[in-house]
Amino acid sequence: MTERQPWWKGAVVYQIYPRSFCDSNGDGVGDLGGIARHLDHLEWLGVDALWLSPIYPSPMVDLGYDVADFCDVDPVFGDLADFDLLLEEAHRRGIKVLMDWVANHTSDQHPWFLDSRSSRSSRRRNWYFWRDGKPDGSPPNNWSSAFGGGAWTWDDRSGQWYLHLFFPEQPDLDWSNLEVRDAMQRVLRFWLDRGVDGFRADVVNLIGKPPGLPDVAPELAGRSLIDLWVDIWDRTDTYRYLQEVRRTVGSYPGDRVVVGEIHTRDMGRLVDFYERGGLPLVFNFALQSQDWVPADWRRVLEQAEAVFRSPGTWPTLVLSNHDIRRIRTRFEGSEARARVAAVILLTLRGTAFIYQGDELGMVDGVGEAYAADPTGRLGCRAPVPWDMRPLRGWGAQPWLPWAPEADHCNVAARRAQPSSILHLYRELLHLRRSSHPLKHGSWRILETPSAILGYERRAGAETLVVYANFGDEDATVGGPHNGAPLLVSSSGTNPSTWDGTLAATSAVVLAV
Ligand code: GLC
Repeated sequence: MTERQPWWKGAVVYQIYPRSFCDSNGDGVGDLGGIARHLDHLEWLGVDALWLSPIYPSPMVDLGYDVADFCDVDPVFGDLADFDLLLEEAHRRGIKVLMDWVANHTSDQHPWFLDSRSSRSSRRRNWYFWRDGKPDGSPPNNWSSAFGGGAWTWDDRSGQWYLHLFFPEQPDLDWSNLEVRDAMQRVLRFWLDRGVDGFRADVVNLIGKPPGLPDVAPELAGRSLIDLWVDIWDRTDTYRYLQEVRRTVGSYPGDRVVVGEIHTRDMGRLVDFYERGGLPLVFNFALQSQDWVPADWRRVLEQAEAVFRSPGTWPTLVLSNHDIRRIRTRFEGSEARARVAAVILLTLRGTAFIYQGDELGMVDGVGEAYAADPTGRLGCRAPVPWDMRPLRGWGAQPWLPWAPEADHCNVAARRAQPSSILHLYRELLHLRRSSHPLKHGSWRILETPSAILGYERRAGAETLVVYANFGDEDATVGGPHNGAPLLVSSSGTNPSTWDGTLAATSAVVLAV
């Protein structure tokens, strides 16, 4: 008998960046109505869940990751009634919905911070990190913020510094304060009571601060601490706070999930966030920083397999999101490479995340408007083009210009072409859904020629094999390859036999 598995094991989660998905009210900014309009598309594609990047009221300094009210919807996206409708419509189609929960900081316009900032004796003063400077007048410590500059901003009125690991408009909450934790529990319950299926927890490794906020070594002083954090400080407090979160989320029925955004350069450290922090899922970003070098992918995949073999862990598969260059852009604009990457992403062991537009083979937006963001992350946030009309299915010209190729790289055009990358994604999702080995089976690397990455997925008597040729030339595989391909990345039709030869930059999935 197969063990009952929570829905999110082996599932595929589709990330929506709401501003750039679709606009329904004619202001050029994507909104909840625009998402609701395209749920049919997501159902057709076959995703299990949506993760919505923040939709909360926000001054939008960090485009929503600066939250001014955790329990409402920004008018630019709609209102709570629109949200309830979207949730209901998604659920009716069997699609789960995850919220983005920004735990580490608020907007400087959040009433908590306005109160905290109002005076040194404010009731919420210690909800954030207010400190005096060093005797020489410099900030309380030598930390840098993720987006450049120091991590402290001076407040003239109350005569102290406050801490922000991101923009100055994103002050850090002090999670050692029980009132902060209680307030955040209420936020989680607010959305859980509404029926959401879980959360993507934004930079959640940062919530436990090292006692005394000590200086870092001088050579680290000019660097963002985000991906050094878990390597240099004890995380016991963070695990304790996360356990509280886990208890709350776990007290609701339906296997509600939390996926933690944890940055580290040491994949092995992620295990503690599962085992000690109690998180069901944690992003593993190792794959998304790999160049097009099969030996590197192989090394990272073997390492992940060793790390996530540990009981209580379950791997995640991430190749892109709203913070980094798109898959195709990273691989020199090659659609063939993007197709191979899709096959790998969706045939590995774990819970997979697709970033909106990657299923269309979109490339990053370019030009002046894109250069405007000081953090350089707008390229991958180009609007999703829905059809061939001048506004491409939007209510008005969107807030950012279209990415190159929008004429043919749009949903309608890709759907009309059976051999398109969109159909490849759909085939992969449907294959994954119906395949026990792909969803829940074991993973093992295969010996292959150096240009090829090969692995096996096995469950009971069923075995699938995946070969991906990273090279610019055809290559032949020596290992098991009898049987018809279930899927070939480079064409819309799957040949009925296969002779063991992989075309340049192509991948194949076989039942053996
Ligand atoms: C996460 C988000 C990013 C945001 C940052 C601060 O890394 O993905 O977009 O800027 O946290 O909230």
